[in-house]
Amino acid sequence: MSPTSNLENTNSGSESAAEVNWDELGFSVVTTDYMYVMKCAKGDKFSQGSLLPYGNIEISPSAGILNYGQGIFEGLKAQRTEDGRILLFRPDENGLRMKSGADRMCMPSPSVEQFVNAVKQTVLANKRWVPPPGKGSLYIRPLLIGTGPLLGLAPAPEYTFLIYCSPVGSYHKGPLNLKVEDKLYRAISGNGGTGGIKSITNYAPVYTATTDAKANGFSDVLFLDSATGKYIEEASSSNLFVVKDNTISTPAIDGTILPGITRKSIIEYAIDLGYQVMERSISVEEMLAADEMFCTGTAVVLSSVASVTYKETRTNYKTGPETLSAKLRQTLVGVQTGCLEDKKSWTVIVS
Ligand code: COI
Repeated sequence: MSPTSNLENTNSGSESAAEVNWDELGFSVVTTDYMYVMKCAKGDKFSQGSLLPYGNIEISPSAGILNYGQGIFEGLKAQRTEDGRILLFRPDENGLRMKSGADRMCMPSPSVEQFVNAVKQTVLANKRWVPPPGKGSLYIRPLLIGTGPLLGLAPAPEYTFLIYCSPVGSYHKGPLNLKVEDKLYRAISGNGGTGGIKSITNYAPVYTATTDAKANGFSDVLFLDSATGKYIEEASSSNLFVVKDNTISTPAIDGTILPGITRKSIIEYAIDLGYQVMERSISVEEMLAADEMFCTGTAVVLSSVASVTYKETRTNYKTGPETLSAKLRQTLVGVQTGCLEDKKSWTVIVS
């Protein structure tokens, strides 16, 4: 990965129009102009990164990430507002979460300030790829990976912090039909595992269950706790919420559940709207008796759940414009896109 162009401190990308049909954006890779790269030796601190043309990276076959999965990632979005600004939503929270994931995976990490600065530089350099208002967002994917070579099991001798981005539309189409997986687990229960960080190793283990579920017409899989198989944990790429009467419940952050930034924001918005929010264990039976259910995450935003199928029995939930899910989604997206006042000062202007 040799720098062919150092655009550190550049604050504007190409002005020419992006070659993309904004009306057909899905959630897949659209290559953009630049990526951000910063390296650091084991035991050192990250100091100076640079913007490089987007492209393949060269990596040793014995890199820590390829052999032992030493890596974490983040996900956040940039949105273009009606008045032409570009907004990030709580990027400092992603920087903080990357730091705690790096500690767990024995890696150095950029400071929160370095993280946010690198995200801003990446967005600015790729600003022509931020979709017009209402057409989607620029999904930003920061990676922190062990790129140094080794053979024995040990922390890699070198680390790479890399950010690339891609314009995206919706992750899911319409309300979700979930299937409860009762044989395979996403993360080991309780504190001490890595379910609560965005370790790269947490994600591929869902593929067996999601491939099977999708082949059978489901949108996604709902995973249970691995200790008892009685409590709901997460969908494959999002946090879960259930609504009963005036109470909203979501699994507590206990080491297995990812501390989602959308999750955390929705909890605050729901409290502001006058709902009681509880972070606690939720049994499968309780979920099946709920009125409404929804998933949250950067990629999925807030997606309502139309049905959950558990051991061949399907339970349906309320969906549509009158639901609490719709109200909460409107609040979140309204703030993220600059259409509603950001009373909590969570949005950050990229400039
Ligand atoms: C996100 O929501 O940003 C994630 O990182 C989940 C990923 C599986 C798309």
